[in-house]
Amino acid sequence: MTDSKNTPKGRFIVFEGLDGSGKSTQIDLLCSRLKKDGRNVVKTAEPTSLITGGIIRDALAGNYPRTPEELSALFLADRIAHNVNPKNGIIKLLSEGTDVVCDRYYYSSFAYQGMDCDLDWVIAMNKNCPSVTKPDVCFFIDVPAHVCRERVDKRGGFKEIFEREENTLDRIRDKYSEVFGKLDGEYIVRISAEGSPQQIAESIYNSLPSVSR
Ligand code: TYD
Repeated sequence: MTDSKNTPKGRFIVFEGLDGSGKSTQIDLLCSRLKKDGRNVVKTAEPTSLITGGIIRDALAGNYPRTPEELSALFLADRIAHNVNPKNGIIKLLSEGTDVVCDRYYYSSFAYQGMDCDLDWVIAMNKNCPSVTKPDVCFFIDVPAHVCRERVDKRGGFKEIFEREENTLDRIRDKYSEVFGKLDGEYIVRISAEGSPQQIAESIYNSLPSVSR
């Protein structure tokens, strides 16, 4: 039998950044490094692959347009499901000592939905929700919008609603700055994406909070 008091809590590590910022590469590098350290690690993302995530993807693809308020509420519902899922939810994984590395979280709602609806309302409903775990750290991969745009264009294929307009990425980057200036009690590390992917990975690893009990 395991004594939950003696099980070190896993770390909840979030990555944020514009579409095309190179988050995925850094997430994979960090997960490999933590596994090499002998940690149990689960990589996850929002929107999720749960039913709520499917509804959101339909909206992001433009198949079923939603108002900014509807989108904010859908992202929150998806985030709650992501936390409380009894099989592999964030809350369960952390309590078992697993490190959870998540591609986007509530900071994305603040930056993306906060552009088109009341930012304070979006912040309040996420931060006041008891089922929404606060991250131990958020790494913001900060890359100029024009670089992200070139990558998104080069990637080709289908573009989601936030990837279509020329100046949207600039607006989202500005919104992230505004949001990070507003949030209290959050550990946010801005990572300037200068240097090789390995150098960036090193500075991310060195900024990790230690394992807590
Ligand atoms: P996706 O293609 O899944 O991931 P990424 O662009 O990070 O590779 O796109 C997710 C989109 O959803 C992205 O444009 C940001 C947006 N989003 C929000 O608008 N609000 C949110 O709360 C989250 C989690 C994502």
